[in-house]
Amino acid sequence: MRVTLRIAAVLALFAGPAAVVAAPPAPAPALLLPLPASMITGEGSFPLRGASLVAKDAGERAAADRFVALLDRSGAAKLGGSAATIRFQRDTSIDGEEAYRLEVTPSTVTVRASTDAGLFYGAETLFQLAASASDGRIAAVTIDDKPAFAWRGMMLDSVRHFQPPAYIEQLLDRMATEKLNVFHWHLTDDQGWRIPIDRYPRLIAVGAWRTPAGAEGRDPKTGKPVRYGGFYTKDEIRRIVAYAAARHITIVPEIEMPGHATAMVAAYPELSSTPTPPTVPSSDWGVLPNLLNPNDTTFTFVDHVLDEVMALFPGQYIHVGGDEAPKDQWKANPRIQAQIKALGLKDEDALQGWFTACIGDYLQKHGRRLIGWDEILGGGVPADATVMSWRGMDGALKAAHLGHDTVLAPAPMLYLDNRQSDSPDEPPGRGDIEGWRKLYGFETAPPSLSVDERRHILGLQVNLWTEHLGTTDFVDRMIWPRAAILAELGWSPSAQRDWSPFARRLKTEMARWQALGWSYDRTPLEPEAKLDSGTITLSQPAEMGEIHVTTDGSEPTVRSPLYTAPITFTGTNRVAAQSFLDGAPLGLPRRWTFDDASPFTRAATAMQLCSNKLPLRIQDDGATNGVRRILWGDVMQACWIWPKAKLDGVRSIVADVGSVPFNFALGADLASVTFRAPTTAAGELEVRRDGCDGPRIAVIPLAPAARSTGVTRLSAPLPVAVQGEHDLCMTFTQRTPNPLWLLDRLTLNR
Ligand code: ACM
Repeated sequence: MRVTLRIAAVLALFAGPAAVVAAPPAPAPALLLPLPASMITGEGSFPLRGASLVAKDAGERAAADRFVALLDRSGAAKLGGSAATIRFQRDTSIDGEEAYRLEVTPSTVTVRASTDAGLFYGAETLFQLAASASDGRIAAVTIDDKPAFAWRGMMLDSVRHFQPPAYIEQLLDRMATEKLNVFHWHLTDDQGWRIPIDRYPRLIAVGAWRTPAGAEGRDPKTGKPVRYGGFYTKDEIRRIVAYAAARHITIVPEIEMPGHATAMVAAYPELSSTPTPPTVPSSDWGVLPNLLNPNDTTFTFVDHVLDEVMALFPGQYIHVGGDEAPKDQWKANPRIQAQIKALGLKDEDALQGWFTACIGDYLQKHGRRLIGWDEILGGGVPADATVMSWRGMDGALKAAHLGHDTVLAPAPMLYLDNRQSDSPDEPPGRGDIEGWRKLYGFETAPPSLSVDERRHILGLQVNLWTEHLGTTDFVDRMIWPRAAILAELGWSPSAQRDWSPFARRLKTEMARWQALGWSYDRTPLEPEAKLDSGTITLSQPAEMGEIHVTTDGSEPTVRSPLYTAPITFTGTNRVAAQSFLDGAPLGLPRRWTFDDASPFTRAATAMQLCSNKLPLRIQDDGATNGVRRILWGDVMQACWIWPKAKLDGVRSIVADVGSVPFNFALGADLASVTFRAPTTAAGELEVRRDGCDGPRIAVIPLAPAARSTGVTRLSAPLPVAVQGEHDLCMTFTQRTPNPLWLLDRLTLNR
């Protein structure tokens, strides 16, 4: 049943008898996320059951509707009779664009704010209080709240992989519950163009589609190319913009220029800086050479594109990219060189600065502001440009020193494409580990900035690039809960930063997500086990709560022994463990059986990489029984080390191997991707002892794996017996990097 709130609507919240229960003990204060600026507990509690809802003007009603919608969806609320009052009330004495006051007394709940946004955020907080009120009563409290930062952002790359409009709306809905208020939407890049521009239909006709690299790009039955892509129709975009606005989220569209422009120049070659631009969007990841030609044709085109972009997105900011624009094409183009001279510019970086300034002027004339990645600082930027600092914090520091506004989005900490634990069960992504506690420790007030300069920090943002994230399930897991941690950093007072109480609040927030049917990455909550040097060590990447463990095959419960020290490996150990916080389970239980064979097999994820150039967790190229394995390696140097492997009595080596397309645009760095020469056509896996230059103890031909898809099990005898413990080094021989072979597991057979 839908509630329409005219003057007042009456709701009975929570199923059960309508009678108000008299004076039970006051419940504990709810665990809110983000933490409000000020929260003072009162006496007694408010009975939600039978509460009547009062909301008058449109903003009050919108906030009340939001509260009811979340309650409905979480299954916590049922409509019915009436008693105490929940009032949404505009109050011009509340100072601040997003500020609100929420008072809970035994007889009334009042949400007050001077703005619609404040009323809305009050509703979000009230939902959190209500959803966590297990006995249907909210403890009396007075909350005075407002954000630390005006920009609390989340960037999603909808180019490298495309997410359907319904997913974008779900993301916006979730962002609102965390009081995140900027959705930076990465809509154009080398691999695709996702926004229709009526004047230039080829931008989507050509630019929205690519043929993926490797097996994914071919129909397995016919061998014909398969196209991947999509775009958001203008109607879909309008709906998404309205959906965001109703949740007080501004969408900042990103139209990349002058680099990351392959899809654009493929669609309209006249924009290219080179006479032979590509004719289709790229299926390679990385930094591509294709730059827009900064001439009048391009300016006219870009201005027309921006006209349509501005018509769709009413927010103040338009993001124009500006990152990773290698200048080779500009250096090689005599006309562009002549243009640099004619403009009296120093070099190509200055030309990018001039180009960006012209675009900034155009936006300014139309009442908008330019924001770009920190490379826009390289060549002199318009005075009112805002700088998004991604190459660490340097861009932010420089921008603030120069008097520019800035948003902190530094890699790797705020880059959600990095994995969040070392578990093999994480989604694909980059190899840096940006765990939850580490993110929570992010310094939002750089000490090298003066108080005045810090005023230029508009706020913070997490970014999710989706090269390796082909499903929205993976996308969800990479975003959540880390975007909620960012929300706390962006909203709550930094003086109150303390991991243990935060972990409690995060656990409670996760329970609310579960009630709303929203997923998140649980892997870091679940224990990991490592067998090494005769002991089994358990750990939990999230560092939340404690681990309880059994060693008798029974299900772990909160009453099972607390894990406090490594377990001695006896030759047969059945270990089961689960994490708990305040008596409640976190994630699922995990079980392991360690036996005589365990020391003789090791997943690549549990080995060391020989280098740390571009370590990735990346999906195997071919599907095996519908499941694509996630492989782990440094794609610029595929090489793994198993330290101290026991080789006594080993007669053969079994290897599980897979391959991925080598579709990495590495520029000059490609020259450093080298391999030993193969001796057979398909190449071999080589196993060496005592380091990667040590003697070769086994050679496993890849031919059977080259003929199959997915991960393939191969084996080869050890021609010469080896005694003792040795560091094993595994590498592949191949003539060219494509396809790139990756090790999944190695087993030593005795
Ligand atoms: C970026 O990550 N290239 C902004």
